Amino acid sequence: MPDSPIDRYEKVLCFAERQVDALVEAHPDFFPIYTTGGRWHHQGELWTDWTGGFLAGMLWKFFTRTGDEKWRRRAEHYSRLLEHRKSDREVHDLGFIFLNTYLPWYELDGHQALLDAVLEAGRTLAMRFVEPGGYLCSFIGRDSLFIDIMMNVPLIFYTANRTGDERLRQIAETHCRTTRDTIVRADGSTAHEGLFDLQTGRFLGQSTHQGLAGDSAWARGLAWSMYGYSKVYALTGMKEFLQVAERNAEYWIANLPDDHVPYWDFHADLSQPLPWGPQKDSSAGAIAASGLLDLAEQTESVECRTAYRNTAMLMLDALVQPEYLADETPSWEGILKHGVYHTKKNLGVDESVMWGEFFFVEALGKALSFEL
Ligand code: GLY
Repeated sequence: MPDSPIDRYEKVLCFAERQVDALVEAHPDFFPIYTTGGRWHHQGELWTDWTGGFLAGMLWKFFTRTGDEKWRRRAEHYSRLLEHRKSDREVHDLGFIFLNTYLPWYELDGHQALLDAVLEAGRTLAMRFVEPGGYLCSFIGRDSLFIDIMMNVPLIFYTANRTGDERLRQIAETHCRTTRDTIVRADGSTAHEGLFDLQTGRFLGQSTHQGLAGDSAWARGLAWSMYGYSKVYALTGMKEFLQVAERNAEYWIANLPDDHVPYWDFHADLSQPLPWGPQKDSSAGAIAASGLLDLAEQTESVECRTAYRNTAMLMLDALVQPEYLADETPSWEGILKHGVYHTKKNLGVDESVMWGEFFFVEALGKALSFEL
């Protein structure tokens, strides 16, 4: 008899734990970002150093799931290795790092010092605010706004909620509105980047680094937007932000291929050779599945709730098949195959990527908490 979905997902999470166990045993204190030929240890370019929280975050999730102290010791250790990043002004990704490490740790232990690390990271991130354009700038430069920042701005809302700092709240709200009004399109698709005139703050146009083109719909960027606006709604209760996530979801669902795993860009020309043509991005599917499961709980439309949940489950059901899950691929060290980091730079193309692993584990955990 085939496994029930619950048994299947439980087995996949056990496989994920085995893969991460092997990684931390083989390469202690190493925070890989993508595999090369399926293997984690590499000297490849980072482009930007943004992914440490995903490995550490998985260690926290495994501890929560199993109660095994081995995972807790590792989670604390790997989180501590990231603490210095709370004052890092070089990246826009402090939400990815601290919301997945020091926040779950604080929620378990309640120690003030853990909360202080989260709040300091939130204040540091807010220093990226560019007053004339009204946005948090990307690591590329002060004239650049990335859609990815929507997944990090929740750290500033969290900090504002905990401290009552209204200036932080204003910065975060302004960023969300500027992003919505410049790089989220009317049809719900998103551009990767917006460029601004630094003197006047005027929006100059849509652009990209990791997508196909400035006017295309890079799949992971759309997933960041959908999940990010959903998180912002959870922290603010502001319907205007829920509506953006719903618009993103509408585009996502209408344009997802029949096998329920997105191509790396929704505008990819499938007649072109790889990596520009029909390259999948399993990580975008994992992020979107996790985001849609939350959005299903937030939407007021019964029809949307059903569509979001069904789409998320169809995506997860596709990702747990051997085409994507590495459990039947000998010597592959990651969990999910067919992710993409940066196509133009040829970094982590058709490989396992650490955020894909994290959001896949997160989404499976959420799915298991529902009645399947
Ligand atoms: N730059 C973040 C990402 O690759 O999604």
